[in-house]
Amino acid sequence: MRSLRSVAILGVLLLPALFSKCARAETGAAAWLRYAPLEKQAVQKYFALPAVVVVAGDSPVLDSAKAELIRGIRGMLGRTLRDEKSLPEESSIILGTLSELQSTLPGIPASAGLREDGFLLATVRLRGFQRLVVTATNDRGVLYGVFALLRRIARNEDISSLQQSEQPYAPVRWTDEWDNLDGSIERGYAGPSIFFENGNVRADLTRASEYARLLASIGINGCAINSVNANPRVLEDTFLPQLARVADVFRPWGVRLSISVDVSSPKVMGGLETFDPADPRVAEWWKKKLGEIYKLIPDFAGVVVKADSEGRLGPATYGRTPADAANVIARALAPHHGIVFYRAFVYNHHLDWRDLKNDRARAAYDIFHPLDGKFNDNVIIQVKHGPIDFQVREPASPLFTGLEKTNEAIELQVTQEYTGQQRHLCFLPSMWKEVLEFDMHAAEQPTPVKDIVAGKTFHRPIGGFVAVVNVGMDPNWLGHPLALANLYGYGRLAWNPDLSSEAIAEEWTQLTFGIDHRVVETISNMLLSSWSIYESYTGPLGAGTLTDILGSHYGPGVESSERNGWGQWHRADHEGVGMDRTAATGTGYVDQYRPPVAKMYEALKTTPDDLLLFFHHVPYTYVLHSGKTVIQHIYDSHYAGAEAAANLVEQWKSLHGGVDEDRYAEVLNRLEYQAGHAIVWRDAVCNWFARTSGIPDQHGRVGHYPGRIEAEAMQLQGYAQFDMVPSEDASGARAIECAPPAQKCSAAFRFEGAPGFYELDLEYFDQNNGTSKFRVLVNEQVVDEWVAEDHFPAKRPNADSSTRRRITGLALRTGDNIRIEGVPNAEEHAALDYVEIHSTPN
Ligand code: GCU
Repeated sequence: MRSLRSVAILGVLLLPALFSKCARAETGAAAWLRYAPLEKQAVQKYFALPAVVVVAGDSPVLDSAKAELIRGIRGMLGRTLRDEKSLPEESSIILGTLSELQSTLPGIPASAGLREDGFLLATVRLRGFQRLVVTATNDRGVLYGVFALLRRIARNEDISSLQQSEQPYAPVRWTDEWDNLDGSIERGYAGPSIFFENGNVRADLTRASEYARLLASIGINGCAINSVNANPRVLEDTFLPQLARVADVFRPWGVRLSISVDVSSPKVMGGLETFDPADPRVAEWWKKKLGEIYKLIPDFAGVVVKADSEGRLGPATYGRTPADAANVIARALAPHHGIVFYRAFVYNHHLDWRDLKNDRARAAYDIFHPLDGKFNDNVIIQVKHGPIDFQVREPASPLFTGLEKTNEAIELQVTQEYTGQQRHLCFLPSMWKEVLEFDMHAAEQPTPVKDIVAGKTFHRPIGGFVAVVNVGMDPNWLGHPLALANLYGYGRLAWNPDLSSEAIAEEWTQLTFGIDHRVVETISNMLLSSWSIYESYTGPLGAGTLTDILGSHYGPGVESSERNGWGQWHRADHEGVGMDRTAATGTGYVDQYRPPVAKMYEALKTTPDDLLLFFHHVPYTYVLHSGKTVIQHIYDSHYAGAEAAANLVEQWKSLHGGVDEDRYAEVLNRLEYQAGHAIVWRDAVCNWFARTSGIPDQHGRVGHYPGRIEAEAMQLQGYAQFDMVPSEDASGARAIECAPPAQKCSAAFRFEGAPGFYELDLEYFDQNNGTSKFRVLVNEQVVDEWVAEDHFPAKRPNADSSTRRRITGLALRTGDNIRIEGVPNAEEHAALDYVEIHSTPN
């Protein structure tokens, strides 16, 4: 006994030595700031890097810059830079603002026309030695310069002779976090809040500080930490010191704190009988409240406002406009140089769906365009990138050209609310690039969205980029290890929207997984194809994400968009599909665009296929530019998408051994799930359209599934059949469940295939209100068992909870009895949909 145990212990102790460095466990917490040791050859490349760092000036941000530089160099090159107070008689790295350097070190190059937050990396000769200078007009820029330098080293780039300056494209580069004070996160998919718990700011803000560091590394300079559906308590006197603690951990990273506020606060928590923005008492209240905040947080950045939207109170209560509401707060912020981000996401969610002229997409422009020029200079209108709500594909919002005399920011969404909730891979920079590059035709020369929001087109003083991120306490921040590419990509695009999505994918992969060519190429390819894959099985031809819009926004739910007031209509019926938004016969939405854009979308011929159903209602037999009918495209794209999702698994598997085991396994797990769920999507959407249109799939796939055995067709003991609602959420519209009082149920069938090796896919329902157990037996041998304990957004069997267990390499003989046993738990009844059996080569 004793000797066996010691052998086991020895084995464990030996493990690290036996595995290559790829096996180093990584949680993903370090994100793209891993500073992993470089290969020997690469280390030599940086042989001439100075051994000393000198900082001119003194501030928390400069301290961070110096500490980061030392940390990064130590990690990657195994050297600890010496920290000197004055310029040494040897080659050195110098950090400091331009003004500080020029006053203390004659010979430092003059300003290279740097703007706020921009930086310069320069190799200069000074007092007889080579110096690597990292400088900027402000401390934050110096910090950004350090991150840029470390990024170069991590990517093994030459830094021997530098003369590189970079400027941010826009002054505003923010994130919004939708955290609630109770610690939950609205549309967050990676654990609880890093800021709040139980109604208060967390006692331990370590993660918040680490997050600020991540944000700084990609140039983000502001962060609003609570949900736009703001709890008024955030402005209570007792809460403000708590907010100050968050500002304190943000400050060393140059990230300014902001909060979302509820415009009814003067009344609901402030003791006034009104929140009418025109009432002087209300103006006074905001002035006083914001003054108190600035006493505690002198660098407070400003506030985000969601009003008159989705049940939130707003100025409409008093017949006032968004400009009235924004300006009353803006006036209170102005003396402190704070900003109001007023969200253009204002619409009526009780629209009459029977009126074909009604159109939610029109709302933002209809409401905000008439107010152009009426907003104070420290107000920014925050516009979602598309006119609906972060769907898998939308055109650029027409409001971008509807505001010429008003500051604007584009709102993007890193958290994948409608794009797979970080269980599906979906690299969003590909999508954002299309919007940012889209020419809105506001002038003779191109006027892409990126220029408008940056204030360049209409010469606005401020503007820029905001993204809803929703990181959580999960070690890797966003849940899916590869989803971090979206946060990285957002920051990089906010800094420089001219970067290509290819460059971003490559950069992120190198920093996150190392520079091995095969790894970089494979992961970049996976990222770059992932948006289009996700789109192809979830939201074809611009119809919107065909998801359950009334609940989870996750799995398929084609019908949920219709016959309600939310206005995410695709108008699919037995004859055709799509929203007619034309001026001639539809809602007139297209006329909100400038004439060249309107003209393009007005005509069927010039509307791109991938936005066809956003702009037009067409019969299913309408022939696309691709030559296919709409209905056949829907079938084909769903089949191709599911196949491509399965192929992502194979691509990832080719990297086994090339990336560390932990992240390898975690990504594999998510991709395998995605491949299964893509089939759930494919079948639900295809069956819905086949049933509704009455037009069969030319290739005979829809409704016919080789190797599939429906659970309801098996021999059941204890299990009972039920009709699925909606019917397309289960194969054959039915499934089985092991309902109380049964303690254990079974479903069995005889295997009729030829002897050989098989792969068995079992489709079951894993809810979040119980942990059922499953066993699969062939004859009496248990071949697999597991507990259904994943966390999907569902409390009942449906397309959200439908998931797949794959058993591979199963040796089956004709006549084998295959039995599935389910043990229910709590509200989860071990529900089963089907089994699919396919022969495999081995
Ligand atoms: C979406 C999302 C909401 C959010 C809203 C917003 O509708 O589902 O949770 O509050 O957007 O952006 O305000």
